[in-house]
Amino acid sequence: MGSGIAQVAASAGCGVVVLEADRTALDRGMAAIRKSLDKFVDKGALDAKARDATIARLTATTDVADLARCDLVIEAVVENMAVKKELFRALDGLLAPHAIICSNTSSLCVVEMAAATKRPANVAGLHFFNPVPLMKLVEVVKTIVTSQATIDALFAFARRLGKTAILAQDTPGFIVNRLLVPYLLYAIRMYEAGLASREDIDEGMKLGCGHPMGPLTLLDFVGLDTTYYIAEIMFDEFKDPLMAPPPLLKRLVLAGRLGRKSGHGFYDYT
Ligand code: 3HC
Repeated sequence: MGSGIAQVAASAGCGVVVLEADRTALDRGMAAIRKSLDKFVDKGALDAKARDATIARLTATTDVADLARCDLVIEAVVENMAVKKELFRALDGLLAPHAIICSNTSSLCVVEMAAATKRPANVAGLHFFNPVPLMKLVEVVKTIVTSQATIDALFAFARRLGKTAILAQDTPGFIVNRLLVPYLLYAIRMYEAGLASREDIDEGMKLGCGHPMGPLTLLDFVGLDTTYYIAEIMFDEFKDPLMAPPPLLKRLVLAGRLGRKSGHGFYDYT
């Protein structure tokens, strides 16, 4: 999601520093941005000059020190609290006192990340949706210590990106995933129980409810590993059986069938 977030910020006229763990990931992310911008050019939604200006506003790096002058940092690293806290600590030591640090986490506790810094009032969640350049929503997540000034700044930032922001509390899944994840997991349980074919489950929700993608196609799109992590975090917090990862999801992840990104999930993309 990091590449999508960098893209929409650069498209909105912001100077963006893109930090990745290594050169390979950086090259992959920058290529994804170029490909997405090219799609908008092909559709006539963007002219080539605007695409080039957007790309020129992006600086790619693997050195966290290059973020020192940023006013806002949006973290989109792996859904692992230890990794996130380490990054938040490093950013806190680096950024100007006024800078805001956000997490794009979909389910982890944001206040725990805030507590790793000396600026907890300047820390919030800013949760985007896939594919970021197309999906209009952003969840702004207020922890019990986030200041109103931070929330106001993030709503203004979301507006600048052309997104609609909604205010969520710091509970796993926030608003959208709290509803979406149990639904997706239930689709897996139906398929696992042999109640319907994967195609019929997907067709049912597309044609019966007007969803753009059926649940199993959406799971492959979001990533089965990502969904598995989210479900585990939500189940751990709420102990609600509807949020427990179904055995089939765990086995697909263990088998390396992660969805579209690995070429195989519920469906075969090879
Ligand atoms: N950048 C630019 N353009 C893109 C793009 C991208 N990244 N991805 C797709 N497009 C364009 C395509 O080129 C296509 O353009 P066209 O209409 O001119 O041909 C257009 O978008 C539509 O794409 P497709 O024809 O491939 O497919 P769809 O009509 O099915 O639309 C979709 C794709 C917008 C992804 C739609 O299927 C959709 O809305 N799906 C549901 C997505 C969703 O639910 N996202 C939320 C996931 S949950 C989440 O992210 C939270 C996290 O915490 C897990």
